[in-house]
Amino acid sequence: MELRSIELDLPDPDGAARFLTGTWGLGDAGGDTDSSYLRGSGDQPYLVGLHRADHPLVRSVTFLANAEEIEAVRLRAAQRDVAVAEVSSADPGAGAGITLSLPDGAVIRLLAGAGRVAPVAGFPDRAVRLTHVVLNAVDAEATARFAEDMLGFRVSDRTKGMVFVRCNSSHHSIAFARAGFASLNHIAFEMADMDAVMRGIGRLRDVGMVPAWGPGRHGPGANVFAYFIAPFGAVVEFSTAVEVVGEDYRTGTPEDWSWPPNRIDQWGISGKDMAALGEAERVFRFRRRPNNE
Ligand SMILES: [Fe+2]
Repeated sequence: MELRSIELDLPDPDGAARFLTGTWGLGDAGGDTDSSYLRGSGDQPYLVGLHRADHPLVRSVTFLANAEEIEAVRLRAAQRDVAVAEVSSADPGAGAGITLSLPDGAVIRLLAGAGRVAPVAGFPDRAVRLTHVVLNAVDAEATARFAEDMLGFRVSDRTKGMVFVRCNSSHHSIAFARAGFASLNHIAFEMADMDAVMRGIGRLRDVGMVPAWGPGRHGPGANVFAYFIAPFGAVVEFSTAVEVVGEDYRTGTPEDWSWPPNRIDQWGISGKDMAALGEAERVFRFRRRPNNE
């Protein structure tokens, strides 16, 4: 499977679209008075869908699958009494498939037959695609288990803070943070190379925004990162060079990924604004609140 897009409900989709197409660098992929779609330079019709609503919510996280993969999920869900809804996408690219909820209420949408678009050249500062979405989980292990058992995903690594999960050879396309509550942690956009990440930091600096964390290079996945708190409330990340892993990748444990003193990434040059990130990581909740929160 392949992570394609995230769909968000929020009070001011126009303002969010202005930021994401302006300083952040995405392209306009159409919409109407209540919706905006934003694309990267790659072959997906859009990466972020913004929909006007009273409250900020994650509407869905969308993965592309083939018909066989969706049928396999349907069967596993039926065996385990997990509710699945049939859907036809009205978003750019269309496609049809199913939605199901993770244990914490986040809606995962699996689409087959969704259209692709021609990649655009000449936009070196535009994200190519989404590389991962991280969700805060009440129980990250249970959520990761669900992703493995139900969606056929695989856990790549575990750290003290997160469970990293892959759906193809990219080290992680989704991760679940051991937060104790359910919400969007952040959305990561894949840039073409490290220069594009650095130029992105420069563009945001031009408008007075500094990274909430970064630049740095992570442990699991080894991707370069810079996190910002977007004006519309979500944490967004410029990222690049995430590790490609094989079927035989050994799942790392928290002990494998402990840092020496004064390090929370491979480079050790950046500070992390824990307070601001902690607040922003609670803004976008899920439609269904978990029972045990
Ligand atoms: Fe990330």
